[in-house]
Order: sequence, then structure tokens, then C-alpha cells
Amino acid sequence: MRDAVRRLWPELEWISDASLREATTRCWEIAFERSPLSPEDLEEIPFTLLVPDCPTSFMAHKRCVVHIARRAAEAMREQMGDALSIDLDTVVAGAILADVGKLLEYERIDGNARQSRRGSLLRHPFTGVALAMEAGVPDEVCHIIAAHAAEGDLVRRTTEALIVHHADFMAYLPFKNLAR
Ligand SMILES: [Fe+2]
Repeated sequence: MRDAVRRLWPELEWISDASLREATTRCWEIAFERSPLSPEDLEEIPFTLLVPDCPTSFMAHKRCVVHIARRAAEAMREQMGDALSIDLDTVVAGAILADVGKLLEYERIDGNARQSRRGSLLRHPFTGVALAMEAGVPDEVCHIIAAHAAEGDLVRRTTEALIVHHADFMAYLPFKNLAR
């Protein structure tokens, strides 16, 4: 499973801290051990169930969010580095893990992904944090998982969490418009 996770996420190599890279990889491994979904499924299922006939796969969307978040963080560091401290490893790990809980939120019936009973009770920000804490992911990154979606609107997000939150919504809201 470790090799499959590395194939899904070449961006794991962007995490320079070895222990954070290990915990982030381990978290995805644990998620697949508990999930009805396989790594191959993630290349096929839509990234959201909120857009009918969504044309983009889970992995295409999630990797796009990681790339946006990293470039945004780099630009902010270049332009405002003296005024704002941004930890790139935290941004990348948080973006890679933001939706890991969806592996426990979805089930696959007749080839189609849908929200499970557990998923309706515990959306992926909650299950994602549970998986990440079990894998030894640090609190700064768990915070990004917890606060990346609408649930986080009640949370005072860190700078790194704000970057991942906006990257996620940049890559989501245009698809939501398609559904109108
Ligand atoms: Fe999400």
C-alpha cells in the first residue's frame, strides 16, 4: 500500500521534514486500510458529490489543490516574507491530507460513490483528524484538516490553513457554478 500511496501522491516528496512526510504517508495508508475505496477508485470517482456528473476525479482535484496551495504559499513568502511566517511543509502536508477523511465518508455502491451513514454523521474534516492523529500528524497540520471546509468557518484559521482553505475553494467553486 505504501507504494500505491507514493504513486498517488508524488507531492509527498515536497515535504522536506522526514518525520512529517512519514506521518502524512502513514495517514493515507491507514485510511486505505479502513476504506471501501482503493487507490484506483480515487482516479475514477468524482471529487465531490455536490456537483452532479462532476467531470473531475478525486485525485485530479486533490493534487490541483496541493499545487495551488504550494505556489500561493511560495508567492506570499516571496512578497511578504518579512511580515508573515509561513511553513511550507505544513501547507503541503495539510493540503495532501485535507480530504483523507473522505475515504471514510464515502462508500461505493454499484460502482458509484455515495456518502455513507458514517459520512453523514462525521464528515471528512472530523474523520480526517482522527486518522491523522493516529498517524502522528502534528497539530498544526490536523488544524488544516479540521478547518479546511465550511466547518472551519467558526475557527480562527492559521495562515497555512487559510491558504489551503482558499486553494480548495478556488478549485471547487467553479465546478459548483457548472451545476447551475
Ligand atoms: Fe474537503
